[in-house]
Amino acid sequence: STLYFHLLSLLFSLNRHLQRNEEENEVWIKPLIHQSQGAKEFAYCPYSKFRVGAALLAHDGTVFTGCNVENASYNLGLCAERTAIAKAVSGGYRSFKAIAIASDLEDQFISPCGGCRQFMREFGDHWSVFLSKPDGSYKEMTIEDLLPVSFGPEDLKKKRFINVENAF
Ligand code: THU
Repeated sequence: STLYFHLLSLLFSLNRHLQRNEEENEVWIKPLIHQSQGAKEFAYCPYSKFRVGAALLAHDGTVFTGCNVENASYNLGLCAERTAIAKAVSGGYRSFKAIAIASDLEDQFISPCGGCRQFMREFGDHWSVFLSKPDGSYKEMTIEDLLPVSFGPEDLKKKRFINVENAF
């Protein structure tokens, strides 16, 4: 029965630990989403009139924001996510914890485009993407959820069937 008691108290402390982690999450998720909504205000989207904002959280707590930046040569437009990532990387950051995305879509969690998913994946596939709605509600997904069976920088280092350097 002492074993039972110990098991029970272990379960309780584990549960408390998990709850504390949930509360810890709560402290940075909402502000990150709020920052992505703020970044959306700077969206330069005279062509699509579709504003998007992003807030990228680096491992040391630094946040990089981004908005979409369109162009008269339509195909050159940048997405909010890629803008934020380029800002972070050009500032010396390569390790990320999460990215929050905001748009004006009322009834839908804004979903990152395929190109941005690959751009995020470059920096790992085990970090979080918060797809949000204007009311601040969100859905959390990992990069891996959004881009399964992905191709990344590690793949370029793997053993190949033909060594091109010698064959051609
Ligand atoms: N856009 C983003 O910036 N991020 C997304 O996740 C979806 C799309 C931008 C690109 C373009 O400027 C506008 O939204 C309409 O496609």
